[in-house]
Amino acid sequence: MLFQRNGQRWLVHAPAKLNLYLEVIGRREDGFHDLETCMVSVNLYDTLSFRTCDDQLSLSVTSHVGDGIPDDDRNLVLQAAQLLQNATGYSGGAAIELVKRIPVQAGMGGGSSDAAATLVALNRLWGLGLDRLQLHELAAELGSDLNFFVEQTSVAMCRGRGERVELIDRVTRLEFVYVHPGVGLSTADVFGACQLDSSPRNDDSGHEFVKSLQAGRPQLHNRLSEPALSLQPKIKQLAEEFEGMVPGQHQLTGSGSVWFGVFKSRRCALRCASVLRSRGIPFVRAISMGL
Ligand code: C5P
Repeated sequence: MLFQRNGQRWLVHAPAKLNLYLEVIGRREDGFHDLETCMVSVNLYDTLSFRTCDDQLSLSVTSHVGDGIPDDDRNLVLQAAQLLQNATGYSGGAAIELVKRIPVQAGMGGGSSDAAATLVALNRLWGLGLDRLQLHELAAELGSDLNFFVEQTSVAMCRGRGERVELIDRVTRLEFVYVHPGVGLSTADVFGACQLDSSPRNDDSGHEFVKSLQAGRPQLHNRLSEPALSLQPKIKQLAEEFEGMVPGQHQLTGSGSVWFGVFKSRRCALRCASVLRSRGIPFVRAISMGL
């Protein structure tokens, strides 16, 4: 999350994330699933701008990723602002502008990152003085991925529903290429299609993953890849393209629909992106780890 002051306005660049490791531990009584997942921030950003105003909350959206992004209470940005007001009794307002560049229903955490940016920015702009722990509590009320973004780190292991964030250090910078199949996937549908019993979990695999990441060659894993592929066969062709170029070093992010590959150098990532484009695959982009 990057902050800039521009006169009366605060500008915040809210990053996307990729999941390098995602294991579904089990189904909970509240209908959610417990997870163990490694997330990295990447340098693809939505931009939010905030200006205080007397009493109203307003949101305007400019989208570079298609139509249908709500500018009313269905948008997590407004829900985050209202939650802050309710939690603190603050009665002032804000005019918020959101520029969307992170694809939606893609597993890249755009909506969560925008909402986390809103909590952090309005806490400052409104002078509410909430500490980090209080912000984390509010974040956990709004969704599963927000806590990772509130932490403002580049790489972490997240547990529970995603709200318990443990930073991972000594990670060398990685490069990525992602492709978007042109359709989104519903998180609820993908979790619903995930067969837990047929895939028993090795309890050490999260630790093994962290070691592999720190050694510079992450052993990618995403338990949701299979259900996502079964729900949206278009993704399979994208996975096959990556397998030809970076065998074993590619997978789904989150609950999809974006598929990505991991590269050690920017040069290799750019070369892969250009080969994919030359094969007629739309929505290809090379990105890097970053805040
Ligand atoms: O957190 P979010 O609102 O994105 O979750 C959407 C849906 O995905 C939930 O209603 C639930 O069905 C499913 N989900 C889950 N376990 C998680 C996260 C999401 O089952 N840890």
